[in-house]
Amino acid sequence: MIRGYHTPVLVAEVTAALQPALAAASPDPANPALPVFVDATCGGAGHTLAVLEAARPGTVIALDRDKDAISWADQQLRLRAEARGVRLELVHTPFSQLAQVLGARGLTAVTAILADLGVSSHQLDTGARGFSFRADAPLDMRMDRSRGPSAAEVLASIDERELSRILRSYGEESDAPRIARAVVAARPTTTSALANVVSEAMSARQRRRLGARIHPATRTFQALRIHVNGELQELEQLLADAPALLAPGGRLAVISFHSLEDRVVKQRFAALSSPPALPRGLPIPESERVQAEFSVPLGRRGQTPGEAELAANPRSRSSRLRVLERRP
Ligand SMILES: C[S@@+](CC[C@H](N)C(=O)[O-])C[C@H]1O[C@@H](n2cnc3c(N)ncnc32)[C@H](O)[C@@H]1O
Repeated sequence: MIRGYHTPVLVAEVTAALQPALAAASPDPANPALPVFVDATCGGAGHTLAVLEAARPGTVIALDRDKDAISWADQQLRLRAEARGVRLELVHTPFSQLAQVLGARGLTAVTAILADLGVSSHQLDTGARGFSFRADAPLDMRMDRSRGPSAAEVLASIDERELSRILRSYGEESDAPRIARAVVAARPTTTSALANVVSEAMSARQRRRLGARIHPATRTFQALRIHVNGELQELEQLLADAPALLAPGGRLAVISFHSLEDRVVKQRFAALSSPPALPRGLPIPESERVQAEFSVPLGRRGQTPGEAELAANPRSRSSRLRVLERRP
């Protein structure tokens, strides 16, 4: 496990879930580039490295929209991949571009795909990136600093109703209207200024409900980050494209960190793994019914961290792994 950049969650569970697909597609001497593993969110490369060690992919394609992650992952993975004869490619791009990335490499199907959603500890803990109220910095919050407006630029022109909608939808913030009013009046440009405006605007009732452990601005920061990075739109696009990019027997693993993301993954996997509906009362025996093209090998609830991981890494608390398999 790589410490320092990010402590990966559910590592044993991810490798156990992807290993059967990678083992079943064991290397083809005629095509040593197979099987192909895609890490759609390589971050600190902890999961990629664990998969490299547990399985024998012929090719690893690691994506991240953050250039810091791409440079770090390159340093961690390059020599290890070479030593194992694995082709390694790092691509600085959002995962909504996965189909285009694979298409440009002549790949129509891959063996395993992992998406470990959200932000890395490196992003959260690097004060200057502006993701956290724990350090004072310009309000940036972009995972990819080379494109798109920063959080401060969004707040400079957003109207109150739209901000209130974002806080309610992406932060489940029940004080959204009053917080939105105060933020639009102040249009803060730094993390501390935003945190102060939110703290002052929040009702005493909501503050009591959060208690001493949760900062009043936690939900506002989460909501703004999700909006600035188009996180749910990215996820929708990945879930629209990735299943069709799996080879038979291939698996897609997704780790989510909050209920908004998890709901989208759960619903998409449930729809893909449900057999086509038949008119009621049609006398077709169970054995002759058409199976769905996909299954959910970890079941419909997915997997969450065990006690030991929860104790060792509190950030794993809200994580849930779900896996989709294209039937062999
Ligand atoms: C939770 S971390 C991944 C950690 C990684 N699995 C590890 O073992 O270190 C999430 C990473 O995904 C990246 N990311 C988030 N959304 C993305 C997207 N839509 N496209 C590409 N990368 C994304 C972030 O920049 C961050 O580096």
